[in-house]
Amino acid sequence: MKVIAIDGPAGSGKSTVARAVADSVGLPYLDTGAMYRSVAFAALRRGADPDEAGKVAQIARSMALDMRNDGTVWVDGVDASIEIRGPEVTRAVSIVAANSEVRSEMRDRQRAWAIEHGGGVMEGRDIGTVVFPDAELKVYLDARPDVRADRRSKEVTDLAYETVAADIARRDALDQGREDSPLTAAPDAVVIDTSDLSVAQIVDRVVSALDRAS
Ligand code: DC
Repeated sequence: MKVIAIDGPAGSGKSTVARAVADSVGLPYLDTGAMYRSVAFAALRRGADPDEAGKVAQIARSMALDMRNDGTVWVDGVDASIEIRGPEVTRAVSIVAANSEVRSEMRDRQRAWAIEHGGGVMEGRDIGTVVFPDAELKVYLDARPDVRADRRSKEVTDLAYETVAADIARRDALDQGREDSPLTAAPDAVVIDTSDLSVAQIVDRVVSALDRAS
């Protein structure tokens, strides 16, 4: 089973690069951040406070989550692809992702997905460190905070740059500071600073690293 782990903070270029690498090497792609977002979405929809750890964990275990190959995300039979990217979910997701019981459930589902698909390109924060420490290739993408905020504010055009930059700083602190599987590069990860690289250049580097690894 071939797993390529692509980790890094928001705005590092992970999603774009992971999708392009998946296309280039012919493996399926999984956005694990969308899974944590789906838990936050399900919790909000069922009227749970993201801080209610036990209740949110119970929702994570019982929810039907379908990460489809066409990129859509279905939660309890509802297409949540748009709403999981919205401001409400984005505000709540770091708290949900710091919940150990939620993480344990999502890791099980991520491993099951990889087995079912015979491997894949998996994008997240802890894929190389915790979910698949034996991945064939681990990549950690990073970029300067101003570049990351700039990229995000081009995606979310209705928010001011300052709002986006503050949100990224807040999420970085929560993701890096949490006790359970904090965001960090695995010791054997290929670390790429994407600040001054084009998508094609980053994908080239990842594919060359994969050629060297296999
Ligand atoms: O990549 P993203 O912004 O969609 O991720 C949403 C949140 O989920 C973010 O706060 C980090 C968290 N996350 C995580 O803790 N572990 C992962 N493997 C993926 C995302």
